[in-house]
Amino acid sequence: MADLENRKILLGVTGGIAAYKGIELVRRLREVGARVRVVMTSGARRFVTAQSFQAVSGEAVRDDLWDAEAEAAMGHIELARWADQVLVAPATADFIARLAAGMANDLLSTLCLATDAPVWVAPSMNRVMWANPATQANVRQLETRDVTFIGPASGDQACGEVGLGRMSEPAEIVAALVDGGSGVVQSLAGRHVLITAGPTRERIDPVRYISNHSSGKMGYAIARAAVAAGARVTLVSGPVALATPRGVDRVNVESAAQMHRAVHDAVGDADVFIATAAVADHRPVAPAAHKIKKTGDSVTLTLEQTPDILASVTALPASPFAVGFAAETRDVELYAEQKLKKKNLDMIVANRVGEDDGQMVGFGTDENAVTVIWSDGRQVLPRATKLSLAHELIAIIAERMAATGSARSNRSA
Ligand SMILES: Cc1cc2nc3c(=O)[nH]c(=O)nc-3n(C[C@H](O)[C@H](O)[C@H](O)COP(=O)(O)O)c2cc1C
Repeated sequence: MADLENRKILLGVTGGIAAYKGIELVRRLREVGARVRVVMTSGARRFVTAQSFQAVSGEAVRDDLWDAEAEAAMGHIELARWADQVLVAPATADFIARLAAGMANDLLSTLCLATDAPVWVAPSMNRVMWANPATQANVRQLETRDVTFIGPASGDQACGEVGLGRMSEPAEIVAALVDGGSGVVQSLAGRHVLITAGPTRERIDPVRYISNHSSGKMGYAIARAAVAAGARVTLVSGPVALATPRGVDRVNVESAAQMHRAVHDAVGDADVFIATAAVADHRPVAPAAHKIKKTGDSVTLTLEQTPDILASVTALPASPFAVGFAAETRDVELYAEQKLKKKNLDMIVANRVGEDDGQMVGFGTDENAVTVIWSDGRQVLPRATKLSLAHELIAIIAERMAATGSARSNRSA
């Protein structure tokens, strides 16, 4: 695992039951080379002492905005500038609400508002508090401001309930920081990576459309991983409820035809094309100009095929290194191999989607498991977070590009 050597992490600890896990978190962050300074809320002090954090971090702990000695030198601004990264773990529902509202009523919230460093948050709360629409709205609001969330995880809770809300384990938090942080090899430095993500919508009439369950999460995770690997990234996105990852140039589209156009507008200097979007295969031949009325009769929709975006890219005289996704509900690898050949791809990611024991897999979830297949090899990537799989996929793409000798594919057309 790459480490966080000399990374300056400001750890905010807030007043949740999981505050005690902050001690292990500091220890693990230091093990991978990070420097850690801890700031506690007054709530956190009810659970763990500042002395404990001081002992494990080897740095003075701050917990008061009105500390006359520290503030003589504008200590809160100095701390906000010092940090390469702010990590709030555990983050209470109350702290997340304060962060979303842009409040600065204690030292930690003031620091979060005053820093240019990326802010990462590991929530920890009762499952009902997490599911509450107020908390969910705050989380979505923060995601649009590029705050990164780690977890929460699912499982037994201190309150005796079971569900989503407990803080991710310290080891997982450290792994997420390493994945999304400074330790990623710049394997795609100077490359232009073009990615499609999300579903498309094909109009039936002005108020209805045909679409699918794609959330866009896999494509967005790949966009993040490509940026972390040093690439310039263009993300052509269907309608999704996700924030644009930092450093990504996003082009919004709705239909397959619009996605086709946007891809061909951007593909000219692309070195890599990764098609994760779940593009509709069919669209209504003649969308109605006005809302179709309920008449009691059945309605027949005549569908036609949409343009095949992936095949149109690999048919270009100078096609980028082309990666497809095969989302299937059965015989996934068989279909994937057929698609690899038929569409003349450099690589395909086989991904099972649909219902598994009543639970959706692949679509909409934060985890995935895939097999990456190319003409003379394959690699199984076991179940992991989509971001972690995205980093592995980017590394495989960089390796295959190096092995085939050029940024551009050397397939014969
Ligand atoms: C015993 C106890 C445990 C609590 N655990 C949590 C928790 O796990 N998550 C949470 O969001 N709030 C929890 N709370 C409520 C917070 O402590 C409270 O909202 C407080 O205002 C948070 O302040 P802070 O975010 O500034 O630390 C708990 C309260 C008590 C008394």
